[in-house]
Amino acid sequence: MRLKIRKTISAFAVLAASASFAHAGDVEVLHWWTSGGEAAALNVLKQDLESQGIGWQDMPVAGGGGTQAMTVLRARVTSGNAPTAVQMLGFDITDWAKEGALANLNDIAAEEGWDSVVPEALQKFSKNDGQWVAAPVNVHSTNWVWANKAVLDELGIAQPTTWDELVAAMDKVKASGKTAVAHGGQAWQDATIFDAVAMSTGGPDFYKAAFVDLDPAALGSDTMKEAFDRMAVIRSYVDDNFSGRDWNLASAMVINGDAAFQFMGDWAKGEFINAGKVPGQDFLCFRFPGTQEQVTFNSDQFALFNQGGTVSDEQGALAKAIMSPAFQSAFNVVKGSVPARVDVSDEAFDACGKQGMKDLAAASKSGNLYGSAAHGHANPASVKNAIYDVVTAHFNGEYDSATAVSELVSAVELAQ
Ligand code: BGC
Repeated sequence: MRLKIRKTISAFAVLAASASFAHAGDVEVLHWWTSGGEAAALNVLKQDLESQGIGWQDMPVAGGGGTQAMTVLRARVTSGNAPTAVQMLGFDITDWAKEGALANLNDIAAEEGWDSVVPEALQKFSKNDGQWVAAPVNVHSTNWVWANKAVLDELGIAQPTTWDELVAAMDKVKASGKTAVAHGGQAWQDATIFDAVAMSTGGPDFYKAAFVDLDPAALGSDTMKEAFDRMAVIRSYVDDNFSGRDWNLASAMVINGDAAFQFMGDWAKGEFINAGKVPGQDFLCFRFPGTQEQVTFNSDQFALFNQGGTVSDEQGALAKAIMSPAFQSAFNVVKGSVPARVDVSDEAFDACGKQGMKDLAAASKSGNLYGSAAHGHANPASVKNAIYDVVTAHFNGEYDSATAVSELVSAVELAQ
């Protein structure tokens, strides 16, 4: 509870410090892209708009997963001062659309043919009641491992493909004195690992039953207990200073060779690329062991707030810029994600990006594409936050696995 109050205060402090001075013709964009790699990607968008004479008013609110950004957004809207455009994930878009807060983009979508190029799994969130309310800029996924190649080579570790191989690899790294798992102890980061661990432990049917269908039997199952047990195993391989560390600083530990692995969404690749690192040469990207067939995705979309029933020129320009195939390629090459359109070539992408695009298409075809629970694509924010609380309390040793399972069942029930 104390933690929640503190978070809210800091979100309001950010709000006060960055009162908006947007001019007509500018877009004011609220987002949480504050790391080096994220800022580099955001620049691609800023420059695109500036080349069209549209000014950019930046409204950054740090915090992966966007929890703090969503708190600031609520305060802005409540005070009658909604930003022009907001980075949003999955069910948050649906929630705002249901409140009637978002602009109707149907004319632009029809003109630009969005229906035929945006994957169904994204349209589910970009549209509400048949109305386009957001423009998807990318597809990320959470079940990735990022590894320092030199560290693995030096220790004779092959890329792990099963949970047991991963544990053996983490053991070897720990024995060498290096940190096995670079991690930042923040609720959304713990939950991001939990996406992959739950999928790997129970497989896709279990993942769907637990996090999409919110089936109490799956949430309270022995499989869920095993998933928590595995989280405790991972906890034993993080360093002593993990608490509160930002995710990009954890990426830096792998980049610098202080740690071997990070379990994180492919925004981590943006940090490696921003540091001049090359996939296959300096670092490896591979799916979390046991989830090679699956993709747990999230898509950053820009929701445009309703400004008196019309879509302003600058909002229209932003939406069109985001959806242009050339932009989708240029942006996602830098961001670490893959395009939100099916007709963009993989030519400009590095090996990890090409794999990301291939995995996404294959998972979508074989029924192995699932929304990320940690990043708002499996269930609404109230449930997501309830899961965060349990996962993080367990990760920090407040609950044993059996207690975590029963807390999960009741927290999810209460949150619905
Ligand atoms: C977003 C990414 C972002 C990451 C860390 C995720 O929720 O989808 O775009 O890079 O959080 O900030």
